[in-house]
Amino acid sequence: MCGIIGFAGRENAVPIIVEGLKRLEYRGYDSAGIAVYDGAKFAVTKKKGRLAELANEVDTNPISGNTGIGHTRWATHGEPSDINSHPHLGSGSRIAIVHNGIIENYKQLKEWLEGKGIKFVSQTDSEVIAQLAEHYYDGDLIDTVVKVTAALEGSYALGIMCLDEPNIMVATKKDNPLIVGISSKGNFIASDVPAILSHTNQVYYLDDKEIAILTNEEVKFLNMDKEHVEKSVETISWSLDSAEKGGYAHFMLKEIMEQPKVLRETIQAALAGGDLIEGLDISAFNKIVITACGSAYNAGVVGKYVIERLCRVSVEVELASEFRYKDPIVDDKTLVILISQSGETADTIAAMREAKARGASTLAIVNVVGSTIAKEADHTIYTSAGPEIAVATTKVFSAQLILLYILAVDFAVKLGKLDIEGKERLLAEIGALPDKVNEILESIDDIQKYASQCIGYKSIFFIGRNVDYAIALEGSLKLKEISYIHSEAYAGGELKHGPIALIEDNTLVVAISCCPGLKPKIFSNVEQVISRGAKVLFVGTDSVDEDDKLSLIKLPMVEELFSPSLSVIVLQLFSYYVAANKGLDIDKPRNLAKSVTVE
Ligand code: AGP
Ligand code: GLU
Repeated sequence: MCGIIGFAGRENAVPIIVEGLKRLEYRGYDSAGIAVYDGAKFAVTKKKGRLAELANEVDTNPISGNTGIGHTRWATHGEPSDINSHPHLGSGSRIAIVHNGIIENYKQLKEWLEGKGIKFVSQTDSEVIAQLAEHYYDGDLIDTVVKVTAALEGSYALGIMCLDEPNIMVATKKDNPLIVGISSKGNFIASDVPAILSHTNQVYYLDDKEIAILTNEEVKFLNMDKEHVEKSVETISWSLDSAEKGGYAHFMLKEIMEQPKVLRETIQAALAGGDLIEGLDISAFNKIVITACGSAYNAGVVGKYVIERLCRVSVEVELASEFRYKDPIVDDKTLVILISQSGETADTIAAMREAKARGASTLAIVNVVGSTIAKEADHTIYTSAGPEIAVATTKVFSAQLILLYILAVDFAVKLGKLDIEGKERLLAEIGALPDKVNEILESIDDIQKYASQCIGYKSIFFIGRNVDYAIALEGSLKLKEISYIHSEAYAGGELKHGPIALIEDNTLVVAISCCPGLKPKIFSNVEQVISRGAKVLFVGTDSVDEDDKLSLIKLPMVEELFSPSLSVIVLQLFSYYVAANKGLDIDKPRNLAKSVTVE
């Protein structure tokens, strides 16, 4: 949540910061602000609302300076407002900060500072950092940062400037991401790579409790004992194009359309030769636990069905927010698989640390290179999806599925549950998925047409059995997060145990059917809901007779275990077009942020 960018350079920082904030807007978008050193003081502009408000304001009332910090906010403490927007200044206006995260002991610190006569102006937890820094500052900004961070409990990524040392910017972090970018025009801090990709692909990943000191000429790193830290610069392979909309109305549609390429690249990278995961002996484990949040959790549910079927190993799937507090039963005989696009989801990080503390081995499936989960897990494999900007995940979810299938095949061979012939057959099926996804994308018009008739529904149900149920969960999440239509996903067999009470005239039920052996079962669920007045959209590999109650979107034939990769494309497009027809802000749905770095 929230995006930070800072620039210390040889040209006006304001347009660079505004452009960077645009690329970070997916992380938070209830308000935004900028502070630059204008030669005499901090010039600060802050605006509630979308970034366009801030951009307009700095166009109308320009501010300028070569060193500055910017922030796009996802409020945790204090409503979205001009005052609560970052940057925050200390009461003497000598220190300016931007903060991503939550300061858990802010109340105590605030009371302590108020007791010393310091007046707070915002309701945020973050202001306490600015006030504390200003209170401690005695001529050495680094000393101040060391003292301030020692007093803070919680999570933070911070960009800090001081009026007395106006040409340096200091950054530090704990449990929230921050990168440092270097270029010939100056140096950057940012929450994420896309923010600075148009200026540089040379970045350092800051580790917890490291301090970065930037000027327009150099970057230095220290630890909290003020000792020099040697870090190596990394070259980012993501292209700028991948962070642009490229003519599409929304990033989400662009990312949906990119999926054949993403799948191909993820398959190629995973099968590039050698061991898929070096040093991981799957036979050493008696159980697998998959833990993740949101869509990544849904990918894990698909993974459970596939791994259990192919490997005959017990797989549990746990929401990371539950796993971390449930005194989980994992030990050195457990493989814990973490799935995360961002690699920064607070609950998933906590689950990983909990698992490691109990002796489990951890394997991460991550998209963002250099992220906390990627770095801390015992083993990491990457989804080769490039940057994903839309808040609702599509292409990374699809890449996660592919890696789970390939893992399942790999484990099954190593466990002696799959012979070479079986392996070759399944890998060929996986290899054929990108072309089949393409086929579905070519019939986009049918899905668009159907979705355009669905904007009036108050509630939509998704049903399926086995992997079709797993993907129903994702279809339902996708729909609710971008269209704001209430939706639920149920295993087909569960309908009769309660949810069927909600079916009435013209309820819409989306039934997914890609498991040939279960088609009669799901079809009897379809009949049960139609006879109670529902309309059904049938998404499946077989034909059904369409009528005014039953519509079909037919999928290419596919190995049932891997069919979620096809059905999900239809569900993504369905949600997208329902939301588009409602005229909603698809890439930035209300109340959501892409990277949930707070609990
Ligand atoms: C995806 O559409 C969601 N916005 C959300 O559920 C997401 O999958 C979840 O927050 C996990 O994020 P992560 O993959 O970055 O860990
Ligand atoms: N807790 C801070 C606030 O509410 C920062 C939130 C964020 O990371 O966007 O302002």
